[in-house]
Amino acid sequence: MKYKSQKVAYWFFAAAMLLLVLQIVYGFIMGFAHMGYDGLHSVIPFNTARAVHTNLLVVWILLGFMGAAYYIIPEEAQNELVSVKLAYIQLITFLLVGVAAVTGYHLNYWEGRKFLEIPRPLDWLVVINVLTFLGIILATLYKGKKTTTTALVLTMGLVFAALLYLPGMIWFDNQTLDSFFRWWVVHLWVEGVWELIMGGILAFLLIKLTGVDREVIEKWLYVIVGLTFLSGILGTGHHYYYIGVGKIWLIVGGIFSMLEPLAFLAMALFAVAMYRKGEKKHPNKLALAWTLGTAILAFTGAGLLGMAHTLPQVNMYTHGTLVTAMHGHLAFWGAYGMIVFSFITFALPNLTGRKLYDTANGQLAFWLSNIGMLGMTLAFGVAGVAQVYLERKTGLEFGAVQQEIEVHFLVLVLCASMFATGILMFIYEFYRHGSPNDEAIGMEEILESA
Ligand code: HEM
Ligand code: HEM
Ligand SMILES: [Fe+2]
Repeated sequence: MKYKSQKVAYWFFAAAMLLLVLQIVYGFIMGFAHMGYDGLHSVIPFNTARAVHTNLLVVWILLGFMGAAYYIIPEEAQNELVSVKLAYIQLITFLLVGVAAVTGYHLNYWEGRKFLEIPRPLDWLVVINVLTFLGIILATLYKGKKTTTTALVLTMGLVFAALLYLPGMIWFDNQTLDSFFRWWVVHLWVEGVWELIMGGILAFLLIKLTGVDREVIEKWLYVIVGLTFLSGILGTGHHYYYIGVGKIWLIVGGIFSMLEPLAFLAMALFAVAMYRKGEKKHPNKLALAWTLGTAILAFTGAGLLGMAHTLPQVNMYTHGTLVTAMHGHLAFWGAYGMIVFSFITFALPNLTGRKLYDTANGQLAFWLSNIGMLGMTLAFGVAGVAQVYLERKTGLEFGAVQQEIEVHFLVLVLCASMFATGILMFIYEFYRHGSPNDEAIGMEEILESA
């Protein structure tokens, strides 16, 4: 690390890890419920568990993005963060709103809109919090000595993500209209502006880890941003097939969403090309493994598995089934979970000054979590395809089908245990690094040249 204020990133990452553990606990509750063991039903019914699981997911990923931004922006802009104190306040208040929301879900204080369950009054607190975050980032950039393309793309992603939160806050009495604008948040986040955030972080990591010239790396960023906007905006149409809007979306959604994997393919090719071109002298090999892994699994989970159900002819059958969960898991993990893990793996030794590169434990964490998640994806896929045939082709009743496919959730829970073991080992590595300290300032260069 080069600037004192970058240390704040560490606490965002620590909070993210904590919430990830909690997310996994709720994942297991649902995994067992799907197997037929729904013992907690009277306390935590499936719909509550699901809302908590997915909301915690979004919150820990956002904490990861914010931490990464607090680390990257000072270094790119060559300036300390304008206010560290405000950044800590922002972290604590963000967590408080998160805890309030999740507690509310257990007490039936929520809106039944998948991913946007947070009640509107709490939404306003989120808005104030995110404005504070953006204020710190923008002021730091403005006061800094430099504005790089990497910093700009990252910031642009963060600003757009904040703006796109707003359509989800408009009140509609009409179900179709509500659904229409809900997708502006959900889809345009993960298949639009979050890709810019991911691209920005990826570029920063590749610049640091491969030693390839910034100019070369940043040229790719333009291609990624271009492809994302070209495909992602009208690609929203793949959620408009059967929600009560015009038929035109069948064609628009089908064509443009089929183009979406190109942006993820570009990211994968970009990362591999930079890896091959680079000198790879950086000692943090594990951070490079996570970075390449991100680009490749994002293409697999989002690009390929997204494509698998994006045509209206297929989506008519697969919509809202476990096929969606199959894609949802590998896409969220491969793209956004892994980019956060890549960044933490890169930043921890720099923040703490402890040179724990490439430990056996860290490598095992990498393989167990990723193979575990691939196994989970497969289990969801098998359950999902079986569900589609039984429910939508043969017309068997929903509950009866769920019973038929219980057996596949044994595989899910086994693979999820492998995944969870990997995550716990990662967190153990995190803990072993100790806390961030000022002695680590400037040490990075010394470590790297050693
Ligand atoms: C990293 C990027 C992505 C993430 C994190 C992601 C995640 C998700 C999630 C969580 C859902 C369920 C949303 C809901 O029902 O509320 C979903 C749905 C969907 N995704 Fe993605 N996705 C990504 C990229 C893509 C791409 C590139 C495509 C197409 C090529 C795609 C195609 C779809 C389709 C068609 C659905 C609707 C499924 C249904 O009808 O139930 N996704 N995605
Ligand atoms: C031990 C780990 C986990 C288990 C056992 C687990 C299990 C589940 C289950 C059973 C569901 C509900 C499926 C349904 O609606 O019937 C679900 C939903 C979901 N989980 Fe997980 N999960 C785990 C970890 C994760 C992780 C690490 C991520 C992301 C990085 C994730 C992302 C999601 C998403 C996006 C959904 C909603 C999918 C959809 O909209 O269809 N889960 N999970
Ligand atoms: Fe989408």
